[in-house]
Amino acid sequence: MFVKILPPEVRSRIAAGEVIESPADVVKELLENALDANATKIEVETSKGGKRLILVRDNGIGIHPEDVDKVVLEGATSKIESEKDLLTLTSYGFRGEALHSIASVSRLRISSRFFQEKEGYEIEVEGGKVVSKVKRGMPVGTEVEVRDLFFNVPARRKFLRREDTERRKILQLIREYALVNPEVEFLFFSNAREVLSLKPSEERKRIEELFGGKFELIREEREFLKLRAYVRRNVSHGEFHVFINSKPVSMRTLKEFLKKTLGYRTQAVIFIDLPPFMVDFNVHPKKKEAKFLKERKTLSLLRSALVGRGAEIEFSYLEQEVPKYETEFKILGQLNDTLILAQRGDYLYFFDQHLISERLYYESLGETQRADSLACRSALKAGERLTQRQMEELIEAWKNLKNPHVCPHGRPIYYMVHLKEIYEKLGRSF
Ligand SMILES: Nc1ncnc2c1ncn2[C@@H]1O[C@H](COP(=O)(O)OP(=O)(O)O)[C@@H](O)[C@H]1O
Ligand SMILES: [Mg+2]
Repeated sequence: MFVKILPPEVRSRIAAGEVIESPADVVKELLENALDANATKIEVETSKGGKRLILVRDNGIGIHPEDVDKVVLEGATSKIESEKDLLTLTSYGFRGEALHSIASVSRLRISSRFFQEKEGYEIEVEGGKVVSKVKRGMPVGTEVEVRDLFFNVPARRKFLRREDTERRKILQLIREYALVNPEVEFLFFSNAREVLSLKPSEERKRIEELFGGKFELIREEREFLKLRAYVRRNVSHGEFHVFINSKPVSMRTLKEFLKKTLGYRTQAVIFIDLPPFMVDFNVHPKKKEAKFLKERKTLSLLRSALVGRGAEIEFSYLEQEVPKYETEFKILGQLNDTLILAQRGDYLYFFDQHLISERLYYESLGETQRADSLACRSALKAGERLTQRQMEELIEAWKNLKNPHVCPHGRPIYYMVHLKEIYEKLGRSF
């Protein structure tokens, strides 16, 4: 065959396709740039699920007039200067390839006013080439407009999903960045309709606003690891959001591990902070995965932080609704010889007797025995009638478990309902 060297435009279009596969990938890069520029307000607009238009406007520090046309060059970045900076990195971006990639597969317009300047500059880029640069009056910050994604790469365009699938992906992404940047205001408009509007807030409030429910906070430090986990158990659809050093990650094994530890039917927002040199984000083209320097050690610290005895667990319902003195359980009875029904404060608890005793048995085993047996032979079975005394003892023992929330296989040990919910169902209000 005749070997040809592809021209640079074609090569960068192919390379761009690896990082930018969908409108959500564009939004992710633009959001990260806005956050890196210290924006406190970020607006996203799309039309046709981002296939026709994506616009991201921020009030960050802006781009210096001399740099405006350089940012679309390959490897153009202001965030690192040499390889060693990768070890202490705290910004989202660092490769200097996002705008270059986006530019090569769309029609791009960038307007920016640097914070020390009186006016802004606007460039237009087509097929990776800057075709115009003009002055423009605008507030401090940056606006990036991406039109007709993949207009010049039909093969990619064919693989774009339906409009609402793409829109959903973008919304999910903005929510993710909003979770980890609660002090930033986020707005999202799709086809000129407002989809999301989040005022500057604080961590817990932002999380509770996005999920619409109360969360419990586990805050722990173990050696080099710091953890904040907001957890809501017994929901019908589990959902896990994990951030390492403020970066959202979608690492399957890490998420599986966390699900096993906290239970599958849990909503959790988990912030893991490590010294920057302990974690490498440079392993995945989209920076969605990270590699721990000491993986086993990190996971074991993580587990002990999440379920360890002495963990400082702040139950939000304790703070807000249940009087402090009601920390004791009142055992109300046994249901179907299977569930222990108990009340604490304004909550009704349904404990699975078999799962409590399975957990008790599991925690009584040593590390090695545990590894080869998840079995629950000696555990109490469902269908066994218990005396009041036995139930009290079981609940007492449950309180001292290292992980009182899930059985060794990851199923929730109990289910709790607020009495208010029951009263509401009965139409009674106080
Ligand atoms: N919204 C923005 N505000 C300020 N500067 C920006 C913005 N977007 C991009 N830049 C500048 O353009 C450069 C290139 O951006 P990008 O291609 O995403 O690479 P990276 O983020 O990896 O540096 C950034 O390093 C930054 O200096
Ligand atoms: Mg970037």
